[in-house]
Amino acid sequence: MRDQALRDQVITIFLAGYETVANALSWTWYLLSENPECERRFHDEIDRELQGRLPTYDDIPRLRYVEMALAESMRLYPPAWAMGRCALHDFQLGDYFLPAKTTVLISQFITHRDARFFPDPLRFDPERFTPEAKSRRAKFTYFPFGAGMRQCIGESFAWMEGVLLLATIAQRWKLRLVPGHKVEPEPLITLRPKYGMRMQVEARMAHVAVV
Ligand code: HEM
Repeated sequence: MRDQALRDQVITIFLAGYETVANALSWTWYLLSENPECERRFHDEIDRELQGRLPTYDDIPRLRYVEMALAESMRLYPPAWAMGRCALHDFQLGDYFLPAKTTVLISQFITHRDARFFPDPLRFDPERFTPEAKSRRAKFTYFPFGAGMRQCIGESFAWMEGVLLLATIAQRWKLRLVPGHKVEPEPLITLRPKYGMRMQVEARMAHVAVV
């Protein structure tokens, strides 16, 4: 591999694989902090399933609510909030004619907040991601990892990493948004919190694992 190609691979992993997950986690902590009832269920599941142990890969199937909260967080704040495509040739897409070279933008952020697919769309509700609720929705109404030929190659890794990080951190800590801190999404390539996410960290002493 030449230096330029190596550099390009490293940048891809940083942007596609690191920045996206970091954003997903920031938004998830924020949403849990704003929704204490969901946060309580989240902590309860972690305490019940792990009994103070650090989570491992084998625990993931039992951390259902953690995964549902992460899924719901990526619905409201999809780290990749839009994707672009370029028409190689003239193309008829349903009612739309796309001349060759047209750029088409498809936005997860807009689709995920469409009340036709997600009633009361601005409400944070991990219950939207029970297997039953998911099976009632049409394909492609939720696509934080894209779809089709260029679907995210790191998707399984991201779910694993996200669930394990959330469970590991939440086992010991509770995060609270600093009162008055302004929260606004900044849609760059990824969806960052514009002013950062300032949180106060509280130890959950009763649940600290013995290490
Ligand atoms: C929450 C985490 C992540 C989100 C939301 C996300 C989202 C996406 C999306 C939407 C695409 C498709 C872009 C398009 O079709 O234009 C994509 C592609 C890609 N992702 Fe991810 N991603 C995440 C994590 C990761 C991780 C952990 C890795 C690698 C370790 C990764 C590597 C890639 C690569 C290499 C592509 C390009 C695949 C291709 O074009 O064939 N992503 N990602």
